[in-house]
Amino acid sequence: MQVKSFEEYKEAWRKSVEQPEQFWEEIAGNFQWRKKWDKVLEWNFKEPRVEWFKGAKLNITENCLDRHLEKNGDVPAIIWEPNDPTEDHRVLTYRQLHDKVCQFANVLKNNGAKKGDRICIYMPMVPELAIAVLACARIGAIHSVVFGGFSAQSIADRIKDAECNIVITADGSFRGTKEVPLKSVIDDALVQCPSIKRVIVLTRSHTPVSMIKGRDVWWEDEVKKVETQGNPECPVEEMDAEDMLFILYTSGSTGKPKGVVHTCGGYMVYTGYTFSNAFQYKPGEVYFCTADIGWITGHSYIVYGPLSQGATTLMFEGIPTWPNAGRFWDIVEKYKVNILYTAPTAIRSLMSFGDDVIAGKDLSSLTKLGSVGEPINEEAWHWFDEKIGHGNCPIVDTWWQTETGGFMISPIAGVTPTKPGYATLPLPGVQPILVDENGKEIEGNGVNGNLCIKFPWPGMLRTTYGDHERCRQTYFATYENLYFTGDGCLRDEDGYYRITGRVDDVLNVSGHRIGTAEVENAINMHSTVVESAVVGYPHDIKGQGVYAFVVSPGKHGDEEITRKDIIMTVSRIIGPIAKPDKIQFVSGLPKTRSGKIMRRILRKIAEGDTSNLGDTSTLLDPAVVDEIKAGAL
Ligand code: WTA
Repeated sequence: MQVKSFEEYKEAWRKSVEQPEQFWEEIAGNFQWRKKWDKVLEWNFKEPRVEWFKGAKLNITENCLDRHLEKNGDVPAIIWEPNDPTEDHRVLTYRQLHDKVCQFANVLKNNGAKKGDRICIYMPMVPELAIAVLACARIGAIHSVVFGGFSAQSIADRIKDAECNIVITADGSFRGTKEVPLKSVIDDALVQCPSIKRVIVLTRSHTPVSMIKGRDVWWEDEVKKVETQGNPECPVEEMDAEDMLFILYTSGSTGKPKGVVHTCGGYMVYTGYTFSNAFQYKPGEVYFCTADIGWITGHSYIVYGPLSQGATTLMFEGIPTWPNAGRFWDIVEKYKVNILYTAPTAIRSLMSFGDDVIAGKDLSSLTKLGSVGEPINEEAWHWFDEKIGHGNCPIVDTWWQTETGGFMISPIAGVTPTKPGYATLPLPGVQPILVDENGKEIEGNGVNGNLCIKFPWPGMLRTTYGDHERCRQTYFATYENLYFTGDGCLRDEDGYYRITGRVDDVLNVSGHRIGTAEVENAINMHSTVVESAVVGYPHDIKGQGVYAFVVSPGKHGDEEITRKDIIMTVSRIIGPIAKPDKIQFVSGLPKTRSGKIMRRILRKIAEGDTSNLGDTSTLLDPAVVDEIKAGAL
């Protein structure tokens, strides 16, 4: 599946465009199917309807676990580094992981789970999270993982939207010096969620929890029951290629997050192929992705992609800056990590601690580096290249999205010549196109436009859960017959792609997608707030910061207290990741006569660039702009 030279890459890409079905059929041949497909691809972007490997039968866990057992059962599948470096680490070989997944799959069955059920997972970064995910996949239940930093309200919204019947969680999680009481957050969420019949709780932090009779059970007790029942195996559920594998919620430009749906066959082929090819993974290499399984990066490139390729994947429970800012480098040294895949925000944060924290760390095992989540600025790229890669490690700057399932535009390590700040070229099978506002293709090089994809790829989303029309509207209706990414993009003189950032109302804060409307809705819940407008501004570490303009005539007395209250409200409604960095109180927002907020003006003010605010004559009350300008933070 790997191309070994730039020539081979170009050849593979050409073939993938000219004969996409043959191209993907060959790739799919590297996986294990219970039954082969009747047809490789059926599609139309109008509905949209996209079906890959139709008629094929498989189970993704057979590809991620069972098929490695005979030859590679003793190879480490998961290495786990705990939050506290003085606690013992864990290694699970493929055989051990297989057994634990079977065991927990039987726990799920004992608790009434069956094919097609939606199961919400809200857990710390411990091996049991990967086990829970795989156990769902094994029995054909659809997992919906919710990142451990989301609030009770966000969890409740997601559980209700997907009508989940089971939650898998833990008593609590460790993040640096903090302890997050996960079970207690779940209890708050479940007040609103009558569909939940069972909560399975893993012991991790020994935080006191309240267990509700008839609803809540301990993970460990349930595993014991399975052991005494003496059924260590759990045969896989045979899935159709187009059966749902999981739902993952992501923010868009409206207030309500969307449940992006991925299916079994195409997603497996796409994540396995892109992992193997872009990282040029070789057996025996230790691969460390610093993301959380609560995001798509963790789904595709901690769990499914690496495991389907028999790789050794390292999971880290903690944070990059605890006990100190050298933690990543200690982990690299401890496990002789070969491939490190991280995010620009982490790189920038670690850069800011100076070179002392890297001094003396043995990073010589590293051969390949990766970046994901947001455009990487050149300074961070060079630091990563020089200080971490010592100039010897190709950097794969992987551009992709929750919706794309896997890498789309990315260098192939050691094959594609790289350029700082560029995701470079489309992987084989990916057909990007730049269009103008009207959807007209912008041809040639040295041009800017909105990034679309014009042909399906196996890892693409199939729908948004429970609301197919929303999927069509969001991704397939802006430009006819194209998938619209929401990103702006430059194609330079060499035909290389550089992502310039979102062109919709979605912020990218520390690599996390946050909808401005979502934050506004949360701010507006505060009792003194009439309305608000949220925009992004450049932030040294986070990439983008959250700037909120808030109309709050009812605020009494101390502005600072109201500010803190608003931040608390956002934390409670969405989660700490969406907290505004700056809150400016204003008497009104710049609106057109038809009542539309002129975000363009607010963005400029937030960026500190007020020299040219453009035409403000269409505003209902132009004077408000001067007031906002004067009070800018
Ligand atoms: C941004 C994360 C520039 C982009 C995998 C995209 C990037 C959004 C890159 C998706 C990159 C991701 N260079 N921008 N290498 N990778 N993005 O769904 O704006 O959390 O649309 O998926 O992140 O974020 P998501």
